[in-house]
Amino acid sequence: MTDLRLFAGRSNPALAAAIAEYLGTPLGRVELGNFPDGEVRLKLSDDVRGRDTFVIQSTCPPVNDNLMELLIFIDCLKRASAERITAVIPYFGYARQDRKDEGRVPITAKLAANLLTTAGADRVLTVELHAAQIQGFFDIPVDNLSAQPVFQAYFETLSLSPLTLVSPDVGNAKQSRVYADAMNANLAIIDKRRISGSETASMAIIGEVRDQNVLMIDDIIATGGTAVDACRLCRQQGARRIVVAATHGVLCGAAPQRLAEAPIDCLAVTDTIPIPPSVRARLPNLVVLSVSKLIGEAIRRIHRHESVSSLFMKR
Ligand code: R5P
Repeated sequence: MTDLRLFAGRSNPALAAAIAEYLGTPLGRVELGNFPDGEVRLKLSDDVRGRDTFVIQSTCPPVNDNLMELLIFIDCLKRASAERITAVIPYFGYARQDRKDEGRVPITAKLAANLLTTAGADRVLTVELHAAQIQGFFDIPVDNLSAQPVFQAYFETLSLSPLTLVSPDVGNAKQSRVYADAMNANLAIIDKRRISGSETASMAIIGEVRDQNVLMIDDIIATGGTAVDACRLCRQQGARRIVVAATHGVLCGAAPQRLAEAPIDCLAVTDTIPIPPSVRARLPNLVVLSVSKLIGEAIRRIHRHESVSSLFMKR
């Protein structure tokens, strides 16, 4: 078996360090910076010829910079004769633009897939893709990990009975059903309408939340609009404690303030995206759970040609 070599871009150094620690493999040495005009400058300090390489980079904001840096990293590894290159993308940006839901719009998730493959990626390892079918945009293997084991272990410490899982929109209903079954809870679904990129309206709850503790699980919190509207509706309809969890805390724009003012007793995200200290300070009820062991274990298994499927969510 060839040696494993782990590298990281600059999007999420804390997560990359935690994954390296789990694997007991130091991050590969690189010179990574920018030219005076902003272009990415990269040089590997270690030999990767014939090695099994993994490059960790979330394509979180600034999405274009982080995506471009990842593409350049892959190109660099390919030209340095790495035997295999796995793009480890804990947060896969542009995933929400995954179909032409109106005329004259791009399918940017497909473009991102094409770019990664063209750059030279042999495999992709990611966490909770916005839509699982994005795997089909690639003609290389894509392992789509679920954060469910990480979240569920945390939820079990919260004593949430009597519990209703509330899906913040129809698209998340399937995932919420998986949690509801695993936690022996009821399920309710919110009828959400998207008004614009930053505005949503939660119209009605299909199901009952009165006198229930509510657990709302989403893949992404970006502007916070979906979660905040949904939580307000649940509180109006008599919910008790409201716990919100999202794998990817994009938390852009006014999200921290909106979430701080919302009826949310606990907000849990994972560390696929780094949360700046200023955001943490605004959200005292924010809990950040680490997916480093999950990703580290998946890397270990991919390297050893072992099954990764037991790390997947049962959908
Ligand atoms: C939508 O389909 C997603 O699952 C999330 O609900 C959405 O991306 C959250 O975005 P925002 O926080 O801006 O409402």
